[in-house]
Amino acid sequence: LKILMAASECVPFAKEGGLADVVGVLPKYLARLGHDVRVVMPRYYRIDPVKYGLQRLPGVLVVPMGVIGNQYCAVHEGRLPGSEVPVYFLEHQGYYGRSGLYEEDNVGYMDNDNRFAFLSRAAMELPKMIGFAPDLLHAHDWHTAAVPVFLNTLYRDDPLMAGTASLLTVHNMQHQGNFYEGLMDVLGIGWEHFTFLGLEMNGETNLLKGGIYHATILNTVSEGYAREMQTPEYGWGLDGVVRERAADLYGILNGVDYSEWSPETDPLIPAGYSAADLAGKKFCKEELQRQLGLPVRDDVPVFGLVSRLVKQKGIDLLAEAIPRILALDVQVVMLGAGEPWAHFYFGDIMRAYPDRFSCRIGYDNQLAHRIEAGADFFLMPSRFEPCGLNQMYSLRYGTLPIVRATGGLDDSVENFSETALTGTGFKFWAADAGALFDTVGWAVHTWYHRRDAMDLLIRNAMAQRFTWEDAAAKYEELYLRALRKRRGGG
Ligand code: ADP
Ligand code: GLC
Repeated sequence: LKILMAASECVPFAKEGGLADVVGVLPKYLARLGHDVRVVMPRYYRIDPVKYGLQRLPGVLVVPMGVIGNQYCAVHEGRLPGSEVPVYFLEHQGYYGRSGLYEEDNVGYMDNDNRFAFLSRAAMELPKMIGFAPDLLHAHDWHTAAVPVFLNTLYRDDPLMAGTASLLTVHNMQHQGNFYEGLMDVLGIGWEHFTFLGLEMNGETNLLKGGIYHATILNTVSEGYAREMQTPEYGWGLDGVVRERAADLYGILNGVDYSEWSPETDPLIPAGYSAADLAGKKFCKEELQRQLGLPVRDDVPVFGLVSRLVKQKGIDLLAEAIPRILALDVQVVMLGAGEPWAHFYFGDIMRAYPDRFSCRIGYDNQLAHRIEAGADFFLMPSRFEPCGLNQMYSLRYGTLPIVRATGGLDDSVENFSETALTGTGFKFWAADAGALFDTVGWAVHTWYHRRDAMDLLIRNAMAQRFTWEDAAAKYEELYLRALRKRRGGG
């Protein structure tokens, strides 16, 4: 199949969250299945054309932007590292020549509507420029949710896209791309689509809503979240729209890039280890304590957390529970960046508990690996989590995840059963600090008094695999399903 994937993030070029991991890895596995898959994304200012060996294609891409008029951009071609998958970078100084992807200093760019309407529209125009007739347009999240809308409207009769189907992958229902109604005039699809059964939502233009209505089929990144997003609790106002499309909605758990995340071969951790020989993990723990200025102690459990510090991740629950957690004989290490209150709050906690708590504000891939390797437990108290990657990394590193049972966390972690002696981690259900604290207490108790159970859980955890081979095969099935639907085969 010929697949064009449009997205706002892609590793290694530009990443804010797990979306980038998916877009940077899935195409490689689709290519191995024999598909001609290509990616289109912005050439953000931070993407160095020399470092990635980008080549400018001849000509310019003309992108109609409704009342704004035509926009012109150069297109650079690169490759996903370690593969032949082409990546097309849109060079538009006005929209992407800035330091951030979406925001600067916690303030979103005022023109994110136009910046991503442009990305979506450029994805529609690119096939002509590169002579590529896609069978599938694969869009991700609100940033490219206009792609299925365009395909169903302005490009319905486009000769290159006569039988083209679309798949929209929703990684997060909270961020919907809702903007003022005038965005309709930039999209240029006609005001007849500004309705309750179209892009209109509470008087605004909602790109994700449009994408959910117009995509040939939809998926999200776990089966659990596919169910949850149909409920008012998790739907952020769009649950009714999702329910209308329930027959075309699927859940596919993300995979893990085990070439990057395996304790046997990870070059970023101080010592390698495996399930058969955990000596290296002990050394990783010591080094982590040393690096983060905590007492180097083998006789205390270390809890790790690596996350965007936002409410989605249950950081407020942790904030409430942390004084009680630190009253126990434990150490907690934290790495993340996000909402300013969290930076101040956890900074104060670090000063108040210097021998139990250490926190690094910022983004640091190497430290993320070291926390995965050096901690005994990993905290993910998310309020919602469509998939979540760190709990899967944690399993692989024998660092038992403590998760709220939601979305992909619930699907990928099996709760410890004291009676059956099964499980891969610890779960709680209520989204409150008490439930989080109780579960941490359960883990602490297990660590101090049930070494046998700990050994078993660690072995179980390290044996789990969530591979991209599996996930890519499922995406292939969805593509075929979408094509049959589009081309009238049922
Ligand atoms: P989300 O996309 O909602 O942030 P995921 O769990 O899917 O959540 O993906 C988060 C990714 O970002 C993981 O690869 C994680 O290791 C990484 N990450 C998040 N915060 C940091 C940080 N401060 N430093 C390094 N890596 C981080
Ligand atoms: C979103 C979700 C996260 C998921 C990621 C990749 O950022 O918040 O749970 O893992 O997308 O699909």
